Amino acid sequence: MSFHLIDIKDANELQRAAILDITRQFELTTKKIHDIKQHFINEMHKGLEKHGNSLAMIPSYVPGTPTGKEIGTFLALDLGGTNLRVCQITFLGGSEIKIKQQKYKVLESLKTGEARALFDFIAESIDRFLTDLGDEHNDGKLDLGFTFSFPVEQTAINKGTLLHWTKGFAATGAVGKDVVELLQDSLNRKNVPVRVAALVNDTVGTLLAYTYIIPNALMGVILGTGTNGAYVEKVKAIKKLGNFHFNSEDMIVNMEWGGFDNERKVLPITLFDNKLDRESINPRAQIFEKLISGMYLGEIARNVIIHLIDSDLLFKEIHFQFSNITYQRINQQWGFETAYLSRIEADLTPNLDNTNSILKNDLNVYESSLTDRQIIKRICQLIGIRAARLAATGLAAVITHRKAVESGCSIGIDGTLFEFYPHFEQRIRGTFDELIGSNADKIALGLARDGSGVGAAIAAMMAAKNRE
Ligand code: GLC
Repeated sequence: MSFHLIDIKDANELQRAAILDITRQFELTTKKIHDIKQHFINEMHKGLEKHGNSLAMIPSYVPGTPTGKEIGTFLALDLGGTNLRVCQITFLGGSEIKIKQQKYKVLESLKTGEARALFDFIAESIDRFLTDLGDEHNDGKLDLGFTFSFPVEQTAINKGTLLHWTKGFAATGAVGKDVVELLQDSLNRKNVPVRVAALVNDTVGTLLAYTYIIPNALMGVILGTGTNGAYVEKVKAIKKLGNFHFNSEDMIVNMEWGGFDNERKVLPITLFDNKLDRESINPRAQIFEKLISGMYLGEIARNVIIHLIDSDLLFKEIHFQFSNITYQRINQQWGFETAYLSRIEADLTPNLDNTNSILKNDLNVYESSLTDRQIIKRICQLIGIRAARLAATGLAAVITHRKAVESGCSIGIDGTLFEFYPHFEQRIRGTFDELIGSNADKIALGLARDGSGVGAAIAAMMAAKNRE
């Protein structure tokens, strides 16, 4: 399968050579993705066998999957990105759900300050949410499902220590601690009548929510600010659980696939990725995530763009009149947003007018030639295609490992990349054709929007049922 790339007709020879070189660096051949897929499967085995693998394969301890018939009201909390989401979710049976929810912005100072302040903020937000709801359900302790979208080594449905932060969070005093305890302490101190009944990763939540609607779904995946996947595994295959007794044959596993191949054995890492990684707050970690997810794609593009500016191959027209103002935005780390990539990839105007308006209005680059804009579009395409192909490779590895190629399976996916980034799904599908062949159309990919909140409430419901 070849992916459509914009033609850059009027590029001069030097530009052509540079574009060819960059195209080669970002391209993933069919052989390469087969190798990556195989390495992924090997790493899954390793992660299931022992703790501390870079593909962490974390057992979720969620007792079973829902049938869609359950009823009851539960609280859910979702922390993992820009916003904190607090929800009250009522299961009405027959796969019907009623949701009331509120979002609270998580300030940068909370993300990187002291963990206690972050957890106090969460407890206060829950308190505010309950006050706004009124007293209708406040007769006793409410059960809450906590979606915490970071790598947590779980030891029970309501216990888990934070391994390390990802996605720009760095609050001190949380790594190595049980995040349920941290939250429960804050709730108790503030007299909020809530019991943290279940802790789930967002991928696990997404899978549970998807299963409530599509029974027997195989995977829950996030393709957004970060990326990760969870899937249903046979308990006996999770060797590192030892003789642990679990009341079901299957358990959902949170792969933490963002850390896949941190050792860099198979992933082709470019100079531009290395620069991003070195300048990030978690160098040498989450390398797979850094090649795929929304938090990073814009920055990779910026690195390529400044390389071409510095090589005198881009924006030549303005070189003689450039000022600090012109390059201020583009010189800034994170100054090129992933949303621009998305808009540039969607720009089908012959003169790339929408790309021009991003350059002018968002980046203060007032003069650019059509060739400049075509080069920029090519860069965005290369980065977008690589991201989708790598995501597809991870999916195909799980599908193969679970022997679901021939029988087919359903996968619920949430996240802005999957929902909004042009051609993302189509590029995943194209890559499936290469990796899975004629069975590729038996793989159903569905949008599972905001599933993690509902999923956390389902986990709380199942934990409460188990307690009875
Ligand atoms: C990061 C987190 C992971 C989460 C993913 C998607 O990779 O480490 O726990 O599932 O982002 O939000």
